[in-house]
Amino acid sequence: MGLNYQNAVFEAAYGTSAQLPHTEKTEFAFAGRSNVGKSSLLNRIFGRKALARVSAQPGKTATVNYYSVDGVHFVDLPGYGYAKVSLSEKKRWAELVEGYLMGDRDIGLVVQLIDSRHAPSEDDLQMINFLIDNEMPFIIALTKSDKLNKSEREKRAQELTQEIPYADEVTMIFTSAETGEGIDEIRRIFDELSEDDG
Ligand code: GTP
Ligand code: MG
Repeated sequence: MGLNYQNAVFEAAYGTSAQLPHTEKTEFAFAGRSNVGKSSLLNRIFGRKALARVSAQPGKTATVNYYSVDGVHFVDLPGYGYAKVSLSEKKRWAELVEGYLMGDRDIGLVVQLIDSRHAPSEDDLQMINFLIDNEMPFIIALTKSDKLNKSEREKRAQELTQEIPYADEVTMIFTSAETGEGIDEIRRIFDELSEDDG
């Protein structure tokens, strides 16, 4: 069985946490720095070229964007950590992401994206610690793996065991929206979680 990603549709974009809907549906959320590849990964999971808007310019997704697949919500969160936006925009994004994560909703999984080439930023670690402290289920998608050669990848995999808190208990998956690496593994995780849900 499994989710039928061909049925993915865009539902809505929300600019403030007060606008966020309250539904009973399970939600899978995508979090990470601006430009890390959240929208690209979503498109690849959906098997669609441009359902979620992608841009080389960081800060493309400035709202909480809801997609749905057969009643399951996929939520593209605004990226954090982009230095060149105004303080008021940064505050708005933080309020949105926090409002989303702290709201009373059924978050089945947070996919926390980290650029596979670099150590996690302070912001990334803050997010990961937030997820751990709040006992939220999450996995880490190590994005843009197509940009690493074999030895660089092995080096990063080794370093991540030191960089990520409780690394040995965290599922980490190398992913690429270019080659499709890791996409089936992530889809399988979503499939299992949406079956549990009945
Ligand atoms: P915001 O919406 O600003 O938060 O960014 P985002 O995390 O949604 O990133 P987005 O998917 O828009 O991708 C940012 C840039 O990275 C784009 O130029 C993408 O083409 C590129 N990119 C995303 N994923 C990959 C990947 O797996 N491999 C490579 N080589 N480039 C990627
Ligand atoms: Mg985006």
